[in-house]
Amino acid sequence: MRKTIIAGNWKMNKTASEAVELANAIKAAASGTTDVDIVVCPAYVCLAAVAEVLKGSNVKVGAQDLHWEAKGAYTGKISVEMLKSVGVEYVLVGHSEQRTYFNETDETVNKKTKAALDGGLTPIVCIGETLEEREQNKTNNVVETQTKGAYAGLTAEQARNTVIAYEPVWAIGTGLTATAEQAQEVHDFIRNNVLKSIFDDETAASLRIQYGGSMKGSNAKELLEQTDIDGGLIGGASLKAEDFKGIFAYQ
Ligand code: PGA
Repeated sequence: MRKTIIAGNWKMNKTASEAVELANAIKAAASGTTDVDIVVCPAYVCLAAVAEVLKGSNVKVGAQDLHWEAKGAYTGKISVEMLKSVGVEYVLVGHSEQRTYFNETDETVNKKTKAALDGGLTPIVCIGETLEEREQNKTNNVVETQTKGAYAGLTAEQARNTVIAYEPVWAIGTGLTATAEQAQEVHDFIRNNVLKSIFDDETAASLRIQYGGSMKGSNAKELLEQTDIDGGLIGGASLKAEDFKGIFAYQ
């Protein structure tokens, strides 16, 4: 009942022409895929060109961040309306690299999530523990605090229009993947403890939760077959069409 959603986070990679080339290759690789939602998230400067390539296709465009204000003196920032004006439909919020390097907090994640929803974008809300937190058995506490922070003040109906990406920070870009069991355990906790307690059973059951952190063709199937894993947020393996296809065509 929850449709698998695979999103590629291109991070700070690809120039405009390289991004167009990759978008064309992914569009071709994805043609005919109907059972999976596919999203690519290029850098801001490539969004318009990539959206143009993907127009009318089954590959949707997401941004990697946004600012919560509608307009004004916020040098360097991009609003929801600006993103929508170039064909963006999804936006990553609270990625661990934003949290670690650019002072993203649960409060700013909450503001961004609300702004995205108010403007009609689908936020992909990223949460996850560091290695130190996992070793101190704080994983559940961390994901609970981050989820509650991100969803503070949202209605159940709004929450259903979001996606969560659970990304253990120690697995991002490191080649270390959480085992399918480790990932499933946290996904189950997020859905059946946290989301049920914030919202209700129906919302918890319908909200899609992606796994992220060194997902690739060789481990995608095992991860995606877990009961509570509904997709993937992919960094490194989304930068080549054939690698990305190895994930969205995992079945
Ligand atoms: P990775 O990145 O697949 O390269 O580990 C995932 C992410 O940061 O979203």
